[in-house]
Amino acid sequence: MLHSTSSRSKTHVYAAVMAVSAVAAVGFAACLVAGRSEAQPPAARVAAPLPAPLLPITLPGNAESGAVLATTCAGCHGVPGSHNAYPAYHVPKLGGQNADYLEIALQGYRRGTRSHPTMRVQAATLSDQDIADIAAYFSTYEGQPASGKSSASAVDIEAGKRAAVACQQCHGQTGVADAKQWPTLAGQHESYLEQALKQYQTGQRADALMGPMIKPLDSATIAQLAAYFSSQAFLHGTEPR
Ligand code: HEC
Ligand code: HEC
Repeated sequence: MLHSTSSRSKTHVYAAVMAVSAVAAVGFAACLVAGRSEAQPPAARVAAPLPAPLLPITLPGNAESGAVLATTCAGCHGVPGSHNAYPAYHVPKLGGQNADYLEIALQGYRRGTRSHPTMRVQAATLSDQDIADIAAYFSTYEGQPASGKSSASAVDIEAGKRAAVACQQCHGQTGVADAKQWPTLAGQHESYLEQALKQYQTGQRADALMGPMIKPLDSATIAQLAAYFSSQAFLHGTEPR
């Protein structure tokens, strides 16, 4: 008797809990729907578990098709001095960049592990073949190797060079990467390099290799590294001709 009462009341309590959680679930779902209709800040994505590393695309790229696709990119990447507005930094140079790295970067924007809103829109509709073609186009784009303009002192650039010993293994002696899946840094805009490094530091750009490298650095060293790599001539602009 006692047993059956207690089991009945247990059932009752259980039913009540279910009812409450059903109401809560409906309420929660409603919040989600309401939340989705309002603009969410895209910058808020801090990647907790590291996403699977991306690989280069295995399809061969066609630079001529890439040139056609890249007309929409020229408005920013083909204009010398073109800037991202908030925060202000130069739009990166793509001329002479490694094809495999370009493919990895574009896939990162496409799947959302790189968070830049405009680039995510640009990459969202690109197929694997489009990405391979665009990478072939920019990586073989002919131009004069150029350095970035820097306001850093010779002393800071020298300090950056010393700190850059830790980067040589992947980015090369002077910032020209040996392996094609790694980015060349030489001649890249200083402000862009600094922005990218800060993003690896905060985790806004999640990368298993770069995150741990950059996390312990202070902001002065980051600025010196950016100044040093930018002062080495290699990457160049892609102004339409
Ligand atoms: C409205 C300006 C704009 C347009 C148009 C644009 N980009 Fe970008 N792109 C940027 C900015 C700004 C960044 C740096 C984003 C960041 O901080 O992650 C960038 C970054 C990139 C990168 C990463 C470079 C690196 O070194 O990691 C690639 C690759 C790229 N863009 C390719 C393209 C391609 C291909 C197109 C055309 C399909 C395109 N972009 C169109 C502004 C633009
Ligand atoms: C073990 C290899 C490795 C080492 C060492 C390394 N990097 Fe990198 N670095 C990478 C890879 C891989 C990427 C591309 C990550 C991604 O896709 O976001 C990268 C990306 C970058 C970028 C972004 C480039 C762009 O165009 O967006 C910068 C800047 C950079 N590294 C600077 C450095 C500096 C400075 C050091 C030394 C303190 C360093 N790296 C050490 C592998 C390395």
